[in-house]
Amino acid sequence: MRQWIVAGNWKMHNTVAESIALAKAIKEGAAGLQGGTVVLAPPFTALASVHQVIQGSPVCLAAQNMYPEDKGAFTGEVSPLMLKDVGCSYVIIGHSERRKYFLEQDTDVNRKVKKATACELIAVMCVGETDEERDRGITQDIVGRQVQTGLSGMENLENVVIAYEPVWAIGTGKVATPAQAQEVHGFIRGLLRRLYGGPAAEQTRIIYGGSVTRDNIGDLIAMEDIDGALVGGASLKADQFLGIIEKTSSAK
Ligand code: 13P
Repeated sequence: MRQWIVAGNWKMHNTVAESIALAKAIKEGAAGLQGGTVVLAPPFTALASVHQVIQGSPVCLAAQNMYPEDKGAFTGEVSPLMLKDVGCSYVIIGHSERRKYFLEQDTDVNRKVKKATACELIAVMCVGETDEERDRGITQDIVGRQVQTGLSGMENLENVVIAYEPVWAIGTGKVATPAQAQEVHGFIRGLLRRLYGGPAAEQTRIIYGGSVTRDNIGDLIAMEDIDGALVGGASLKADQFLGIIEKTSSAK
């Protein structure tokens, strides 16, 4: 069966010293957990230092973005090979903040997913509708298009995790109800089944993100197609994040 995964997206937070302290606390608190994966996504500037802390532990390192070329004249960008060089095994791709503020399109997301997985990084591909799109009743159209275009040309899903993050739930304290989240997760898994067949769809982890806390994770993780969480704000506090990890691992 699918293993759970809980990832902390630190976004544009934490100095190197703060990142080291947080990573240490999470590594110690998560030691001994089995049956799943804990991933930390610090800012680029702290990747190497956090890697030093978690090296040799089961905690994995992720970047929050990448540019889909090995190297070259792309001022300000970071390549997948550079991410691997500092110890990343995961990379978050197509987060809604990148789509909103940096105008990333589904086609950009697709290029990045293909490049990341070709470089043997696990791509955490983010999808999700805005509140306006939900109100208009087109959630499945939007998420379906994001999944299908994002994965276009991908032969398999071995190195792909999908994160369903409704935009209206991110950083708002307005978490999706377990039923709302399950409905979209089930829809995504059905789409993956059509595109890649039953076994691949069953093995692919689909995680929920958007105002997850240790108080609301229990009901979300009990849902059949929710395999973990992508956590923003609550991943910046070790006790909160560890609470989410513990509840996930005991439920799955
Ligand atoms: P919050 O948990 O702060 O709502 O952020 C979710 C998110 O965007 C994780 O990628």
